[in-house]
Amino acid sequence: MSDRWNARRPAGRIAYVNGRYVRHGEAGVHIEDRGLQLGDSVYEVCRIADGRLFDEEEHLDRLERSLGEIEMAVPMGRMALKTVMAETVRRNGVRDGLLYLQVTRGALRRDHPIPRIAPKPTLILTVHAMDRGAIARRHAEGVAVITHCDERWGRCDIKTTQLLANLLAKTAARRAGVFEAWLVDSDGFVTEGTSTNAWIVDRKGAVVTRALSSAILPGVTRRVILEAAEAEPVPVIQRSFTPEEAVSAREAFLTSATGGAVPVIAIDGHKVGDGKPGPMTRRIMELYTRHSRDRLA
Ligand code: PDD
Repeated sequence: MSDRWNARRPAGRIAYVNGRYVRHGEAGVHIEDRGLQLGDSVYEVCRIADGRLFDEEEHLDRLERSLGEIEMAVPMGRMALKTVMAETVRRNGVRDGLLYLQVTRGALRRDHPIPRIAPKPTLILTVHAMDRGAIARRHAEGVAVITHCDERWGRCDIKTTQLLANLLAKTAARRAGVFEAWLVDSDGFVTEGTSTNAWIVDRKGAVVTRALSSAILPGVTRRVILEAAEAEPVPVIQRSFTPEEAVSAREAFLTSATGGAVPVIAIDGHKVGDGKPGPMTRRIMELYTRHSRDRLA
């Protein structure tokens, strides 16, 4: 059968598209899908660990919120969606990896306004395996970041697939030989990474991350870490910080569903702390993993 849309896909990959489980290479959407033409769509990325979905409820909470903010209905009830998510993971046989879920407003003749009569939404799920070795290496060695002007729109709290500003900044980071770009707002404060939330451990040992607003994505990993830290207790302050403060901080780290809490050991070529992964970042990663695993049972 034809592999025309993804010649590099591993054999046997299965996607879910609008009620059907199809071979990854043959899965597709209508050419007038509003997600494709207008970026009229939202998404989630969930970690799969030992075949189970980490922080599933929190991801579904955020999906519902994103959909609500752009006046899109949920494509199916939460229980049904969970069944589809689990089945997509199962059919791909992935033990460690990521589940990608996207909902678009559906296909309709191209026109900007939200249609008065909603078309049938498009629901897409894919799964891919992750390189556990690469993630373990990032935790052990830490990663470097550059800073980059935050050129995104004013509603970064919505997890939309309109990611051009993110991908341009991420490309600048990769071309600079580093893992991530920390985006800086017009007042000189770090908002977040292009696909991660940004954190520091300040000079007094408190864990600091920017407060929620329309300037950042409400990260699920961020949310779970805040809950876990509160239960511990680990001191946490939600406030903005500058790249200069981050460089002179004890530690810095970034968080996402993909990697949990990853140490940041250099910013724009300047060492953070002693330039090695720090004890608080390790502790946060342990707390996060324990908290998320406990809730899988
Ligand atoms: N990115 N900030 C941005 C801009 C993000 O895109 C993400 C997630 C995060 C971290 O959120 P969470 O902890 O829920 O993963 C913060 C996903 C992983 C992605 O786009 O691949």
